Amino acid sequence: MSSSDQIPASSNDDSFGHHNKLHFNSEAKKYDIDPLALTISKKCGEAIIKELRSELDPEKTEVMDFACGTGLISQALSPYVKSIIGVDSSQNMVDEYNKKIWQQGIDASEMKAICLDLKESEGDQLDGRKFDLVVVDPETIGHFNRLGDKHKHVEHTVAHKGGFYHNEIEEVFLNTGVLDDVKVELSFTFNQFIEKDQKECTFKYLIAKGRKKE
Ligand SMILES: C[S@@+](CC[C@H](N)C(=O)[O-])C[C@H]1O[C@@H](n2cnc3c(N)ncnc32)[C@H](O)[C@@H]1O
Repeated sequence: MSSSDQIPASSNDDSFGHHNKLHFNSEAKKYDIDPLALTISKKCGEAIIKELRSELDPEKTEVMDFACGTGLISQALSPYVKSIIGVDSSQNMVDEYNKKIWQQGIDASEMKAICLDLKESEGDQLDGRKFDLVVVDPETIGHFNRLGDKHKHVEHTVAHKGGFYHNEIEEVFLNTGVLDDVKVELSFTFNQFIEKDQKECTFKYLIAKGRKKE
């Protein structure tokens, strides 16, 4: 990432979002050849399927893949569900997602991505569409400027470089006020050599799940 992509800690959400878009627009074409992205997305997809297998129905389940990127998680989920809408704030990521769907001959009614910056202040941006399942991968959450009410140091486009504690994620889910049965647990671990520290580190990936109240 070039230094021009860096934004100061005091940046507001709009500026942060803008830099995130610039960053992911430039990453989109090469995203699917990044071995780390491929491995993590595969593991995330497998973890979601393992957790929800008995509740997924290829005839009924409608999914939103929030911050879908090029659709690596959507692709893993697709055999198990009826339809998937990917939502992402980067147009280039959305284009890569839809190109893949087109190349696979999948109908857009089954799977497609749209470019949207979902904002509470802008009301219903999805035309009242409801979903049985909303997924968001943990790599994406690290790019959000605001998680609940907590702010951390903003550096590049990754606001939460150190990741999250179990209780932070649980608090966010509970604070929505609309989720029951909130569960956060260790899903898988991943080892990666960190150049800066010259050592291999173990990253822990959590899976967080909540059910919308009736
Ligand atoms: C690590 S990638 C996710 C990859 C994706 N899960 C996949 O399987 O291909 C992060 C994605 O989050 C998107 N993103 C970041 N902040 C977002 C936001 N506020 N709203 C929507 N998308 C966002 C980025 O554009 C990027 O495509």
